[in-house]
Amino acid sequence: MATHCYIKKLKLHNFRNHSNFELDSNCNSVVITGKNGIGKTNILEAISLLAKSNGMKKAKASEMQNRFSSEDWAVYYGFFNGTDFNSIGIAKNFNKKLIQVDGKTQSSYSSLYRISNVVWLIPQMDYILLNSPSDRLKFLDRIASLFEENYTYCYMRYRKAKHERSKLLRENILDENWLSSLENIMAVNAVNILDMRLSVLKILQDTIDNHSTKFFPKVSLKFSSQLTLNDTAEYFQSRLKENRAKDSLTGRVTFCVNNDRFQVFCQKRDIPINLCSTGEQKLLLLSIILSSVKARCIHYNKAPLLLLDDIMSHLDKHYRKVLVEEILSIKCQTWVTDVDRNNFDSYIDSFKFIEL
Ligand SMILES: Nc1ncnc2c1ncn2[C@@H]1O[C@H](COP(=O)(O)OP(=O)(O)OP(=O)(O)O)[C@@H](O)[C@H]1O
Ligand SMILES: [Mg+2]
Repeated sequence: MATHCYIKKLKLHNFRNHSNFELDSNCNSVVITGKNGIGKTNILEAISLLAKSNGMKKAKASEMQNRFSSEDWAVYYGFFNGTDFNSIGIAKNFNKKLIQVDGKTQSSYSSLYRISNVVWLIPQMDYILLNSPSDRLKFLDRIASLFEENYTYCYMRYRKAKHERSKLLRENILDENWLSSLENIMAVNAVNILDMRLSVLKILQDTIDNHSTKFFPKVSLKFSSQLTLNDTAEYFQSRLKENRAKDSLTGRVTFCVNNDRFQVFCQKRDIPINLCSTGEQKLLLLSIILSSVKARCIHYNKAPLLLLDDIMSHLDKHYRKVLVEEILSIKCQTWVTDVDRNNFDSYIDSFKFIEL
């Protein structure tokens, strides 16, 4: 059984449309229901602040402030981290955020990253796998960063060096030492990025193939790269050097991990996701998200919190049931929002229900 973290108590004060809201999950997964505009998504957004300073909507602290109150917003989480309880507070403080863990003010967000991990699927992500190749790659990067702590660090180092190299080439500053030092940073990190992308994809595909519930649609994850695992950082660096003139003209990096291709196929029909129906696309996206959470539990023995906003839309009765079964099979605390409580009628004992 994976280390099971969960939120037991949640309190929102002047956060979005909630002046004062509190709930006790009784350590269960939670289904939040209520009519449109009542504040379901806002509750998930407050939870997502545990993972990302600007939350799942990428909003500023000022946007989260209840428009009808001048008193700063605050969110309190009674959080079980798998071993102990933590009392976590995040509050708006002069357009920044004040973070407290067990009464101690934290200097940065990194202490929260060590305690909690949150994964979400929100309607804004519905088309993420249908968008441009770079958006699909960004989605893969998000998943990879869930598994490999080092991933984001490597990726940021790579991106920063790539950006600086492009600037030098654009401005025709052909300083050999400077360029080769940036290309070295790009090459070393690119080799690591490829290695981590491939290992995460392998873990994920294995989980999809062998650990999904029987009726849940499966995806095939397809990936190709200009680099191979046999290529060394030196080789990659030499290709970057060789391509300087070309890259300077095109403004792109000709040979690089940002040209990697990530595609998602419906396994049963062997067709790309963009040729599937809207409901099928939603299920395939869910299959990846749920499998990555499951894979994290299986391979890393650590369950994240899972936030699923408005996921029943586009699904028929059969697949709504299949989806609930799949969620329950993961055994991590899941927060689901829906306008219709009837979708969960057969699972009364498996969730804590909150009707707003
Ligand atoms: N800063 C704010 N202050 C006050 N109200 C806000 C603020 N930000 C958003 N709201 C309002 O909060 C309400 C609830 O939004 P939310 O997205 O949580 O609804 P919901 O229950 O998820 O609805 P739906 O079922 O349509 O998805 C909206 O009417 C929105 O306008
Ligand atoms: Mg909503």
